[in-house]
Amino acid sequence: MATFSVEELKVQYHSRNSTVKAVDGVSFSLDDKESIGVVGESACGKSTLGLAIIRSSSGGKIVSGDILLDGKSIVNMTEVEFTKTMRWKEISMVFQGAMSSLDPVFPIKQQFKEILKTYDYNDNHIKTIENTIDLVGLDSSVLDKFPHELSGGMKQRVVIAMALLLRPKLMIADEPTTALDMLTQAQVLDIFKKLKKNTSIMLISHDLGIISEIADKVAIMYAGQIVEFGTLQEVYSNPKHPYTQALLRSVPKIKGKSEITSLKGNPPNLVSPPAGCRFYDRCPQAMEKCKKMPPMIKIKTGYTSCWLYE
Ligand SMILES: Nc1ncnc2c1ncn2[C@@H]1O[C@H](COP(=O)(O)OP(=O)(O)O)[C@@H](O)[C@H]1O
Ligand SMILES: [Mg+2]
Repeated sequence: MATFSVEELKVQYHSRNSTVKAVDGVSFSLDDKESIGVVGESACGKSTLGLAIIRSSSGGKIVSGDILLDGKSIVNMTEVEFTKTMRWKEISMVFQGAMSSLDPVFPIKQQFKEILKTYDYNDNHIKTIENTIDLVGLDSSVLDKFPHELSGGMKQRVVIAMALLLRPKLMIADEPTTALDMLTQAQVLDIFKKLKKNTSIMLISHDLGIISEIADKVAIMYAGQIVEFGTLQEVYSNPKHPYTQALLRSVPKIKGKSEITSLKGNPPNLVSPPAGCRFYDRCPQAMEKCKKMPPMIKIKTGYTSCWLYE
């Protein structure tokens, strides 16, 4: 049975004169300790999905659907219950750009303590902090340092350690290697490889190469929706959706350097997306019936949302 699932989730940003449908009917599920890669072009809703799962106030509003951890609905919890029992404890997140938003005026140790405060911080917790710092391959001397005294790679390890502090079941990491040089990227990925034995990781990235190093399952997002979901092996070796196929074609063969480049045109805007398949305008295989929204069609290890497989 799946231990983590997202069901028909819709998340929107409301402003006075428009509504951005940033996540528009997303479903997937993970078994115990399975990790997922969420891939797609910029602005397709990846961060919004992550922020909704951790119920961040900087995310959008969950308007419908459900998120379940061990059968328990996160969406229906009160804020107090979610804060006490879930955020950081069961589900944590390394926010996009987190390493550059460490508070410059406090030493690292203080920033860990802030997380623990919600849970009655006491002096025994220093051991927990030290163990966690060790988990990401840092020396405990960094705890007395200020953010500006650390390299980019060290800061990124610190924010990963923060997310791991209370040993959550699921850690969401949003573009955790984007600002790092190649060598540091590889080091951070090595940390994730070790972590994933005990923790489910939801790795958000526009980089298919990075995803392939960590993920068991892959979700390909396009314009607020998942167009294909399945095991890494299945999606990468036998991609079904024309968007997935285009993405994989655009990956250069040199390892580590993979950007989404070759697709012409732009995704539709998410204020008034088309009623049919959202990839219609860019799809080399578009047909008349693609003007209607394709259903979710079961394939070997997951599903795709494309009329070609009806
Ligand atoms: N705070 C916000 N207010 C309004 N719209 C937002 C906000 N954050 C993101 N969006 C919009 O939601 C959509 C999805 O954004 P995001 O989840 O950040 O995508 P990604 O992480 O895939 O780049 C985009 O159209 C983006 O402009
Ligand atoms: Mg993002």
